[in-house]
Amino acid sequence: PLVAVIVVAAGSGTRLGHELPKAFVPLSGRTLLERSLDSVFGMRDASQVIVVAPEDRLDEARAIATERAGAAGGYLDVVPGGNSRQASVERGLAVLRPDVDTVLVHDAARALTPSTLCDAVVAAVRASGAGVVPGLDLVDSIKRVDPRGTVLAGVDRRELSAVQTPQGFPRRMLVAAFAAATEELTDDAALVTAAGFPVSIIPGDPLAFKITTPWDLRRAELLLATPAD
Ligand code: C5P
Repeated sequence: PLVAVIVVAAGSGTRLGHELPKAFVPLSGRTLLERSLDSVFGMRDASQVIVVAPEDRLDEARAIATERAGAAGGYLDVVPGGNSRQASVERGLAVLRPDVDTVLVHDAARALTPSTLCDAVVAAVRASGAGVVPGLDLVDSIKRVDPRGTVLAGVDRRELSAVQTPQGFPRRMLVAAFAAATEELTDDAALVTAAGFPVSIIPGDPLAFKITTPWDLRRAELLLATPAD
């Protein structure tokens, strides 16, 4: 049974304030896509890697991925993205090889994600037969607010988890959840949960944070400049 990883890299990156699509923005000399693929190809066990890229950058994405796939072996596909993250994941699901039984979905924007987190998600999906997402405890207090900014109520943060990617699922659950989807949700686990399948949390990694704003990019640059101990 094979593991496939769908890397979604087709976003525009408007919030990053860059003219390049987000996955092609450089971070200390290498693009977010190069860095996130380094971590995917560093996994123990990724037999099919599917890169979902902007329509007009397929060749560039293929060159970046092929260079990294070389040593790792396995199957590589590069497909054009859709108008939403969810549509982009769906394009990736369409090219899964028949012998794949576990699927990870990963944001290229989480460029510093360690390979070990990806391996931990695969192991947990295999052990549980359910969906698995990495999550971190919240440190801030959380408020529910109305559109004018008036605080309605506090939310107990002990009941919450800030979830990251890669998110992993038994193939049949993820495919069924996408087939049943009736609205756009912001992550894959939300669709799988809505379809009635179990999903559990494993400890996330602070390095798997999503690079969304210029501040995030700065934080990533600083982390790369600081040798880990
Ligand atoms: O926009 P957001 O931060 O949710 O994007 C998360 C990931 O989904 C990014 O890696 C982005 O490239 C990808 N994405 C995509 N296709 C879209 C929108 C986002 O592949 N249409």
